[in-house]
Amino acid sequence: MITLEQKIDPTKSSLLSFIKTNRGKSFDRFNPINEFVGQIKASGAWTYAQALTGPIGPWAQLAGQHPDHLLENFACTDYLGLAQHPEVHRAVLECVEEYGVHTSASPTFTGNTSLGKSLETMLSQILGKDCALLYTTGWGANYGAIVGLANRDGADHFFVDAHAHNCLRTAVETVKGRDYQNFRHNDCDDLETKLKKCRQWDAHNGIFIVIDSLYSMKSSAPDLPRILQLANEYEAFVILDVAHDFGAIGNGLGVLETIDLAQADRLIISGCFSKSLGTNGGFVAGNRAIYHQLMLYSPTYIFSTGIDPIPCAIAKRSLEIAFSPEGQYLRARLASNIEHAHQCFTDAGFEVLGNVKSAIVPVLMGHEKVARLVTRNLMESGLLVNRAEFPAVGRRESILRFTLMATHEKFQIDRATEMLKSAWEYAQEELSEEI
Ligand SMILES: Cc1ncc(COP(=O)(O)O)c(C=O)c1O
Repeated sequence: MITLEQKIDPTKSSLLSFIKTNRGKSFDRFNPINEFVGQIKASGAWTYAQALTGPIGPWAQLAGQHPDHLLENFACTDYLGLAQHPEVHRAVLECVEEYGVHTSASPTFTGNTSLGKSLETMLSQILGKDCALLYTTGWGANYGAIVGLANRDGADHFFVDAHAHNCLRTAVETVKGRDYQNFRHNDCDDLETKLKKCRQWDAHNGIFIVIDSLYSMKSSAPDLPRILQLANEYEAFVILDVAHDFGAIGNGLGVLETIDLAQADRLIISGCFSKSLGTNGGFVAGNRAIYHQLMLYSPTYIFSTGIDPIPCAIAKRSLEIAFSPEGQYLRARLASNIEHAHQCFTDAGFEVLGNVKSAIVPVLMGHEKVARLVTRNLMESGLLVNRAEFPAVGRRESILRFTLMATHEKFQIDRATEMLKSAWEYAQEELSEEI
């Protein structure tokens, strides 16, 4: 265990400096954020922005470290482990043979490929939708879906779950609809109250309910059947970001398995390839009526160069595997690892947030000082895990976000629990007088 040469000092003022707005005409405007980072760096707890090298799987290597120094990797979202699957690698080689690499143009012009088209068809079939459009990132797909579908004169209303992902919130802020309100996280009664009021006031314009299928900070899932029932009753559209469960959970459809997709016409599904499908990219799928609207008005579609065929080849082969008996086997392994992690962390006395059907296993650390010291010591002792702290979560509600993969071995989870326990005990002792 490393010693604490310098007391970690994430004092209130350093947290405040994080949220200070950058204003002014010189580069001094960036002082607050640089001071904030400087303090964390000085304490040795800056564990962000780590570059990895070599193949990335259940073990990973930090750039610049000896190749034998592998870390237990609980910090990546390749939930099914498909990024290192030999079939997926073969698909890349075949793709380069056939297409080379590619930056052509906007997909609205000539930027799509026959491979991209076949991936769109595959996605729409899997999701039971009429059409799908590809984007270069999941962020861009979610943002582009909302900005592209919203009325350009600001006539629509948006009700967004309080924990919805940044790409959804940023889009809604961009659109400046007539009404933009958060509803309380996963609180359908609160949503219904807002919908009712809105429809009494405006019977004609569009309403968009904006949600995630799995909220990545708390690992919680929405009551999708009830939300769709509300959407039908109040004639609203639902934008659902399926980033974290598509491919990985249940039979591969995650929360979508709780509804009858054939009856979910008001549901527009957006998602990304960067979690379970081993590559960058995203998609929006829905009723055929949205196709030309997105093609011509979605800014991250029409004003951005089309997705390269290589991520399309990866996503397509990954989808084929994910929705095959092998995918079912990988999901069963993932589910068993998730359950084991919940059990181990809970038995070790930690509070684990969220849902046992999610590959994100958030372990509550509480105080930022504790979370930083624990992550720093974990990295030193050979474990990679992401930390989330204010403002991504509430003050004093820091978490370590363990992300599980099908390819993890149970003994890695046991070892991670032991490391976490000793890092936590050490932090409690070191910081006992400060927190
Ligand atoms: C819920 C959610 N949606 C969208 C994104 C963005 O996806 P991508 O990283 O593929 O752009 C993320 C983060 O990666 C996410 O967590």
